[in-house]
Amino acid sequence: MTLEEIANDVRNCTLCNLCKERMHAVPGEGSSKADILFVGEGPGRSEDQQGRPFVGSAGKVLSKLLDSIGLSREDVFITNVVKCRPPENRKPLVDEVAKCRPYLEKQIKTIRPKLVCVLGATALEALIGESNLSAQHGKLINRRGLKLFVMYHPASTLYNNKMEAVMMDDIHSLLGILKNMDQRESGKLDDFSE
Ligand code: URA
Repeated sequence: MTLEEIANDVRNCTLCNLCKERMHAVPGEGSSKADILFVGEGPGRSEDQQGRPFVGSAGKVLSKLLDSIGLSREDVFITNVVKCRPPENRKPLVDEVAKCRPYLEKQIKTIRPKLVCVLGATALEALIGESNLSAQHGKLINRRGLKLFVMYHPASTLYNNKMEAVMMDDIHSLLGILKNMDQRESGKLDDFSE
């Protein structure tokens, strides 16, 4: 399946009640060859209006984080656990997450990113079944053959000004992990063995 086919299915989806109040579904966007796939919680007001992920204030923070490691939005893929805006930006319900999950799984299977970056508590809970974000952020977790890297949600920097430094640290760790994977793939690390 192509990313566009998945996006069309998302735009036509009526599997849960979130479809009733959406202005636009937000399938996600970015490179089909992305090494990193970012997963947030769900679209907010701006995203619902534009049909694009992370275009509001949290999106500005995400762009800044990407910029700090020399990447742009076009280099990565950005999506959410649920593809339609929950009313009043409430947390998505367990049933909504479950109904929407196959779309994320198809996106991951199509792109085959080296790392899935889990942004915030809702994505952590949905993808890893863990609720302790402060214990898990900055960590790489292996699940069912997927490498998941955990970060706080970019919106957390909007409420707590200490979070930006924490997120900057974490995104640099992510870059380090990615570079290390590239070196392993190209066999460069073998140069150091006897
Ligand atoms: N917050 C999210 O989790 N996702 C978006 O797309 C925007 C804000």
